[in-house]
Amino acid sequence: MSLWRDHLAEYYAPKNFNFWYYFGSLAMFVLVLQIVTGIFLTMHYKPDAAQAFVSVEYIMRDVPGGWLIRYLHSTGASAFFIVVYLHMFRGLLYGSYRKPRELVWIIGMLIYLCLMAEAFFGYLLPWGQMSYWGAQVIVNLFDAIPWVGPTLAIWIRGDYVVADATLNRFFSFHVIAIPLLLLGLVVAHIMALHEVGSNNPDGVEIKKVTDPKTGHPVDGIPFHPYYTVKDTLGVVAFLIVFTVILFFMPEFGGYFLEYNNFIPADPLKTPSHIAPVWYFTPYYSILRAVTEDFMIYLALGVAAYAALIGWTVGNLRMRAATAVVGAALIFFMKGPEGIALDPKVWGVALMGVGTSIFFLLPWLDRSPVKSIRYKGPITKAALALFVTAFIVLGYLGTLSVTEGRTLTAQVFTFIYFAFFLLMPWYTRADKTRPEPERVTG
Ligand code: HEM
Repeated sequence: MSLWRDHLAEYYAPKNFNFWYYFGSLAMFVLVLQIVTGIFLTMHYKPDAAQAFVSVEYIMRDVPGGWLIRYLHSTGASAFFIVVYLHMFRGLLYGSYRKPRELVWIIGMLIYLCLMAEAFFGYLLPWGQMSYWGAQVIVNLFDAIPWVGPTLAIWIRGDYVVADATLNRFFSFHVIAIPLLLLGLVVAHIMALHEVGSNNPDGVEIKKVTDPKTGHPVDGIPFHPYYTVKDTLGVVAFLIVFTVILFFMPEFGGYFLEYNNFIPADPLKTPSHIAPVWYFTPYYSILRAVTEDFMIYLALGVAAYAALIGWTVGNLRMRAATAVVGAALIFFMKGPEGIALDPKVWGVALMGVGTSIFFLLPWLDRSPVKSIRYKGPITKAALALFVTAFIVLGYLGTLSVTEGRTLTAQVFTFIYFAFFLLMPWYTRADKTRPEPERVTG
């Protein structure tokens, strides 16, 4: 009963939640959907290089209702990322990552990284051409890490190439290790949120104004029944869209299930075009954008950023540290042969930084207000540019490379990172409107 009271009946949530607040509960719904369908898939799937592909075909053709369970799970994976990306975007819109919700955000980011690992491990299981070669490409990236790379790549695969041993361990991670972690992190995420209370579209802390008689926030309403009902509506709307896709276009034009993955894995035949599933493609584009020629611009970018810090930050220690780190980075980018690292290493590094730079948002945003409603034109433009960069990079990542596409990806890679790295400056310089005392509407 105390759990019920603390987290539902007497959890006071702001009364002005809007469309963007559907996606947290939806993410929980899709998580449950993935776990339940995953349990049933595991009853018929065989984690064995000789049988995996046919066992999936068997599920699709011979197991009663198997096709539905499989499509629920494969379409569910893409739905999970759509929901989570929209959930994260809400955080960006309303500054939900900011004090006092830094921990909620950090746990959210750990969930995001686990989710990517979960999807990556799961994608190998059908043992199709894309499963096989996608895993080969990604594990080979570790190979690029100086000194330890080659040993590390073999250790991850359990063989010199992606093989049966790899399939077995990926199965084990996909079915038990990562889901356990995910569940634990989601519980921690909600606990951290309920400790400080939810943010809202105005970015106002509702706990500041409480009713003297009840002690409850004046702008809060009990989660149950108000938001349990609202979230149920969200689930129904989601299911309508989801089932239309599920029944009429489960492959979604090759974006949710790639066509090459209907061909069994063949270690002797590399497909001419290898691309990950859409939710990884923005980062894949960043990886491919780092070419030999790009390194000079990257080095110039690092030098300019170090100069900006040196010019605007008074703290001497900070200036010295920036100079040392900046010089070291440039040295390893453009230093003499044998010391300069392979562009591939920098591609991998940039891809890694690209996925985890969101962790820093609580400290990069220096605006006096949280919500986009009260932020100024520069911040709004920066967010719009960032979203454009994410979508363009995502689209380019699904295509094969040409000179023009690589150049476009390079420009948008700069925009992607500029959104984060310049944030302390533009959020402070921007003209904001004062936040209201109470939530509006
Ligand atoms: C399995 C994935 C996830 C689940 C099940 C989940 C669940 C939830 C739920 C139920 C809420 C409260 C309702 C709401 O505000 O919408 C919430 C809030 C929040 N989540 Fe998540 N979440 C997930 C992933 C993430 C990720 C990847 C991030 C960011 C990196 C994130 C950041 C946040 C933040 C900042 C809040 C507070 C929002 C506010 O109060 O305005 N979550 N999450």
